[in-house]
Amino acid sequence: MRRLFPVTDQTAARPPGGAPSPDGAGREWSLDELAAAYAYPDPREGGTGAWLRANMVSTLDGAAQHDGRTEPVSCAADMRIFGTLRALADVVVVGAQTVRQEGYRPARARAEFAALREAAGQGPAPVIAVVSARLDLDFSLPLFTSPLVPTLVLTGAAAPPDRVAAAREAGARVVSAGDGAGADPARAVAALAALGHTRLLTEGGPRLLGQFVAADVLDELCLTVSPMLTVGDAQRIAGGPAVAVPKRFALDSLLEEEGFLFSRYRRA
Ligand SMILES: NC(=O)c1ccc[n+]([C@@H]2O[C@H](COP(=O)([O-])OP(=O)(O)OC[C@H]3O[C@@H](n4cnc5c(N)ncnc54)[C@H](OP(=O)(O)O)[C@@H]3O)[C@@H](O)[C@H]2O)c1
Repeated sequence: MRRLFPVTDQTAARPPGGAPSPDGAGREWSLDELAAAYAYPDPREGGTGAWLRANMVSTLDGAAQHDGRTEPVSCAADMRIFGTLRALADVVVVGAQTVRQEGYRPARARAEFAALREAAGQGPAPVIAVVSARLDLDFSLPLFTSPLVPTLVLTGAAAPPDRVAAAREAGARVVSAGDGAGADPARAVAALAALGHTRLLTEGGPRLLGQFVAADVLDELCLTVSPMLTVGDAQRIAGGPAVAVPKRFALDSLLEEEGFLFSRYRRA
């Protein structure tokens, strides 16, 4: 792993095609180093009193998945960053389709991050918050029945009452953040902040991320650019109606390993 931006004295240490440098710029970064590289800004810097970060991966041709999963376009370093971002978060916000398709499980308490989380006043693992209107979710899964901290279901006031009851019976905490069937993205962020969750991480999927972007509540995008081309008609990382004016983000940092780029952009 090496840092390409901001430029440091290590950036040039590994010329294109060159061997890893003896000073370690090309070595695997420790989880502590990754955690430091991705530390949350003060959540109060976010427009909502919380800081909403997204972590997404895209191929060179813009595919956000291959065969319905992200794993084929990811890599070991991407998964280390994925795990680090989770470890830094109070809550992981995810769309119901991603939960269904990727088979989401409860977040783990990882010994490597225990001290960091304790120092930040966080519990041993982030809460998973599933955003769903229909609540067509398998509430018998461990995500709902045996997480370390109860899984949240973010929905709207008109969610099907029998499904709300099923979610609660399984042990989930249902939070209404909208007047209709679904959650209003800005209200969802505010509801999480009201529960004390101010370091927010969304892992998508694209339809959910598109709504956070459109509602102007996304503070940061951690985007992995995967050096792959998939062609096909896979979704991009954000979907839904186009915004009237493109949202401008500024590059904060750029890491590289094995041709994968790990970028961090924040709202300009
Ligand atoms: N490239 C990446 O980094 C990345 C990240 C995550 C996922 N993915 C891929 O993306 C695909 C799934 O993404 P997706 O865009 O189809 O779906 P998604 O965003 O994960 O989930 C969409 C579902 O979320 C619920 N939802 C979304 N907005 C809502 C709102 N405002 N209120 C209430 N519920 C809301 C609805 O659930 P109900 O239908 O239950 O009402 C909707 O059907 C998978 O193939 C996955 O592998 C890629």
